[in-house]
Amino acid sequence: MKKRHLLGLFLCASSVFAATAATPDAEIESKINALLAKMTLEEKIGQLNQQTGTGYSDDMVGSIRKGAVGSILNEVDPVIVNKLQHEAVENSRLGIPLIFARDVVHGFKTIFPIPLGQAASWNPALVEQGARIAAVEAASTGVRWTFSPMVDVSRDGRWGRIAESFGEDPYLASVLGVSMVKGYQTDDLSQPGTMAACTKHFAGYGASESGKDYNTTWIPEVLLRDMYLPPFEAAARAGSATFMCSFNDINGVPSSGNPHLNIDILRNEWGFDGVLVSDWASIMQMIPQGVCVDLKDAADRAANSGVDVDMESYAYTRHLKELVEEGKVEESTIDNLVRNVLRLKFRLGLFDNPYVDMATANNFYAPESLEAAKKMVEESTVMLKNNDILPLKNVKKIALVGPMADDKHNQAGTWCFDLEKEHCVTPLEALTEKYGKDAIIYAPGLKYSRDIDESGIADAVAAAREADVVVMVGGEEAVLSGEAHCRADISLPGAQTKMLEALKATGKPVVLIIMTGRPMTIVHETSLADAVLYMFHGGTMAGPAVAEMLAGEVSPSGKLPVSMPKMVGQLPLYYNHVNTGRPASGMVLIDEIPLEAPQTSTGCTSFYLDAGDGPAFPFGYGLSYSTFSYGDVKLSSASMARDGSIEVSCTVTNTGNMAAAETVQLYTRDLVASLSRPVKELKGFEKVYLQPGESRMVTFTLQASSLAFWSTPTTKVVEPGDFNLWVAGDSASGTPVKFSVTE
Ligand code: NOJ
Repeated sequence: MKKRHLLGLFLCASSVFAATAATPDAEIESKINALLAKMTLEEKIGQLNQQTGTGYSDDMVGSIRKGAVGSILNEVDPVIVNKLQHEAVENSRLGIPLIFARDVVHGFKTIFPIPLGQAASWNPALVEQGARIAAVEAASTGVRWTFSPMVDVSRDGRWGRIAESFGEDPYLASVLGVSMVKGYQTDDLSQPGTMAACTKHFAGYGASESGKDYNTTWIPEVLLRDMYLPPFEAAARAGSATFMCSFNDINGVPSSGNPHLNIDILRNEWGFDGVLVSDWASIMQMIPQGVCVDLKDAADRAANSGVDVDMESYAYTRHLKELVEEGKVEESTIDNLVRNVLRLKFRLGLFDNPYVDMATANNFYAPESLEAAKKMVEESTVMLKNNDILPLKNVKKIALVGPMADDKHNQAGTWCFDLEKEHCVTPLEALTEKYGKDAIIYAPGLKYSRDIDESGIADAVAAAREADVVVMVGGEEAVLSGEAHCRADISLPGAQTKMLEALKATGKPVVLIIMTGRPMTIVHETSLADAVLYMFHGGTMAGPAVAEMLAGEVSPSGKLPVSMPKMVGQLPLYYNHVNTGRPASGMVLIDEIPLEAPQTSTGCTSFYLDAGDGPAFPFGYGLSYSTFSYGDVKLSSASMARDGSIEVSCTVTNTGNMAAAETVQLYTRDLVASLSRPVKELKGFEKVYLQPGESRMVTFTLQASSLAFWSTPTTKVVEPGDFNLWVAGDSASGTPVKFSVTE
């Protein structure tokens, strides 16, 4: 059935303009109103001001007593937190408590893998558990607001902040973003041991042009709504207590001055009633972005664009009063911003329990937290290749080489402000413990990932010659990804490739482990190694997880949350692209072109002469020590109505010799629509744990509503017609099965 006509459009009104699940609590609302009625304009503006902690300083104490500060960031000493809170609660006129905020991004003291790594686990329950652990640890110092999760969909490995993301897919980012929100907040934010989540960066930041941080973005509204907004909407509807504006502009409009995003969509469509905080000085940055003449203009624009809290621009503190007096910002507008802040403080229970309980303060590194962190490394390690060398069998001597084999600081990854690196266990320590000191010949070869001094390589090669197997742990130092740390070349830095070539030349089997913050271009390196474990920065327990995986006590079970490019020039690269009129076929690559070949000699389809088409490894890909077979895909019906659903089932069997996990993925394609639709879109996944020989039927309920897309900026539709679906272990596998959506 073809469906080019628009008559059959079905508007999903329920998901377009429906209010969110957040229900206003009448008692809280009346307390907010009572408090607001007593506040001076200066005190109201104070609640909108967030500033960096300066300890128990005279300046800070003075500001708090005047009611000139609403929240403080980066103060993590519970003694100071309590002293500052005492000033707010006992020595300010209205006794409004402060909120203490921090970037707790992938753990507080017990560091989990970076978010991109956690995404590779495809395990929502484990992501939630990690966030829970982070909240318990951070809240035990007084931090009750974290600036996480970051749900920016990112298709470009050059962008350093891809490390903080859940990768390139909006569905995966939605599911995992919601898991993190739940983990931080639980069902009751007022309980101790919780933190308000802050879903960021609203919005489109992951599309920063050329993968360069803070860069401009141009995103048509239908793409914004289909690709970039779904994880934000999911988080808002799951009750994320706060949101953060992004630095970038979209189509020329910076997010801190974008009422369409912040008011029309976030507040009015999604019904968000939490706090929207600016990013660090992002209000002030509207001046260099060229849309505001000065800080006063920026304050005016941000306040009228629904930004509640000014993080570090001091625009509100300096100019809001004057703007109200001049009638440029209504006092009722300020009241609404303040209401959101007070609501958060009530929801956090801070009016009743403002202080850290010193009897349970600094509660870190519980054994079960370390165990969960280790499990997360194992579940997020993606095995890209294995020539039957892993798990290691009968090895007596291991040459352990590479700059990341014993690097506590760098295995933790980006955004680890609270790292105590002595708690990180490295592969060297863990392998020494597992195999015994005599079994490990440690020769790093390079001192750090960017090291170009090749003089140590000879020692690594000598170690390789004495060993049965070489384990090279390389990658990128933590500081090569994260905010403002973008790369135009995403290959292994320094002399790592040279070292790998030298190791390969010894003839010894080589296991390459890569700890990194991004998808890297490692085609050549993969061809040199006998096995590749791609593990992202793993945090505190990276070492023990490496030891257990190498020894075969557990199989790695990560699947890529991003497409791995062959060459950097392919970026941005993503599996859910739309088709061209000339999809790649009959490719003639650069070395195959005859001399003086005619203009049309290369096939005239969509590909690169030097990179062909497609990734080195596709989204969703990852091997296991075991093997899995997929049975035929069965549908409860071959068609469904536009408001219906079908059940999609497939039996998956562990056909190998080891207990292991497989992530079963459901993809669809809308074959003909009013707009070109992606060649594949993830619609569901389930990670199953199977014993050798065990089979499990995995069943997905595919709702027709999940096939809806934005055909115009204001119309979300399920268009009737034919679709394909796949149930497979990655985005490039499986056999298509047809179904249709009827009028
Ligand atoms: C800037 C970053 O963009 C944001 O992610 C972070 O939460 C704030 N700084 C606060 O540190």
